[in-house]
Amino acid sequence: MKKYIIAIDGPAASGKSTTAKRLAKKLKYIYIDTGAMYRACALNALWENIDLKDIEALQKMLSKIDIKIKYSENGNRIYLNGKDVTERIREADITKLSSEIAVIGIVREKMVELQRKIGENGGVIMDGRDIGTVVFPNADFKFFMTADVKTRAKRRWKEAKEKGENLSLEKIEKEIEWRDKNDSSRDIAPLRKADDAIEIDTSKLSIEEQVNLILSYIKGREE
Ligand code: DC
Repeated sequence: MKKYIIAIDGPAASGKSTTAKRLAKKLKYIYIDTGAMYRACALNALWENIDLKDIEALQKMLSKIDIKIKYSENGNRIYLNGKDVTERIREADITKLSSEIAVIGIVREKMVELQRKIGENGGVIMDGRDIGTVVFPNADFKFFMTADVKTRAKRRWKEAKEKGENLSLEKIEKEIEWRDKNDSSRDIAPLRKADDAIEIDTSKLSIEEQVNLILSYIKGREE
């Protein structure tokens, strides 16, 4: 079976990463969460106290940034300059900062370069905002996942609750709306469905159904 490049894009909490992770396990592919790479970049800028308007300082930071992904079926681990930052990059300050740093051209250039290097040989499922439009416009499969904002906010709220965090549903909804707007209105590589992507609305689908739906498209090509 050919080792495909599978792109999954969509807004925050649309079900991309959960679906991509399960698919990768089933297909024995590598899963790349490109959002985690922007998050690691944001954390690095925070550590180094970099003003995002200071392009020179950002350039310097990017020239030596070391982002490593350790692949594992039980969840990848993300390392920034040798330190495991997997949990830290999920915190609220980094969530916001990652969307802010992702509008900057030199940041995107560096991330796209890394992503292409990781995915060029195929056998990869990459999720993000611009995978089907910019990173791999020739991907073998492109999916664009959506869900209404209330459903997405509820998913994040439930995830947080399972981790023992009691967040306000309203606050999560506002944060998601802000990020949707910021990620889709930027000039460079905005969140957008590629013309040839298959759109999947996950509002009323279970995870199993999402995975099976995507698998049916992939298997359909094999027959
Ligand atoms: O997927 P995520 O929520 O972890 O992504 C965090 C931020 O990174 C998101 O708000 C926008 C940015 N991002 C991006 O601009 N392009 C990508 N391919 C992935 C993420």
